[in-house]
Amino acid sequence: MLVSGTGSNMVALVRAARAGEVPARVVAVLADRPCPGLEAAAAEGLPTVVVEPRRWASRPEWDDALLRAARAHEPDLVVCAGFMRVLGAAFVDAFAGRLINLHPSLLPSFPGAHAVRDALAAGVTITGTTVHFVDHLVDHGPIVAQEEVRIEPGDTEASLHERVKEVERALLPRACRLVLGSAPARARAS
Ligand code: GRF
Repeated sequence: MLVSGTGSNMVALVRAARAGEVPARVVAVLADRPCPGLEAAAAEGLPTVVVEPRRWASRPEWDDALLRAARAHEPDLVVCAGFMRVLGAAFVDAFAGRLINLHPSLLPSFPGAHAVRDALAAGVTITGTTVHFVDHLVDHGPIVAQEEVRIEPGDTEASLHERVKEVERALLPRACRLVLGSAPARARAS
């Protein structure tokens, strides 16, 4: 799995897999920065890897380092859950059809890094969350699963995002089940 932040969705997926609700196990957690998500992964007993862009001389070298770090764990499925970088083309190609992303809006509405804020600013009354296969465009690709979240009067970005994340923590395991449905029974997720 790839994370950049809190990692609450990562932990939810790890636990769902351990509970037998997803036919997989999470084999490693990668991040682009030191973050609470990595600490949470370590607390779950998972291998963690930080691949920080500033430690590499160029963007292609970082792309390559991230790809090598992911490949080292031989994942059947790569799950981005709050990973706040655009993946390089080689990474997307290497895991084509085996790479999914969790995004806090009903795509194609509100792609980008501020999806919850943008939904509030637009004045919509319903937003939600999406799990989709990753392609070469940002927050774009075939949709695996979506779920709505109603925007309440007085919602702030923080209150709305927390409700979205509650829904995401159930949606992500369900989406992984769907994607892995046709995969070997003991698939490995990174
Ligand atoms: C989620 O809302 C996800 O959709 C977005 O980043 C958030 C990650 O939350 N891409 P967490 O780190 O799993 O708590």
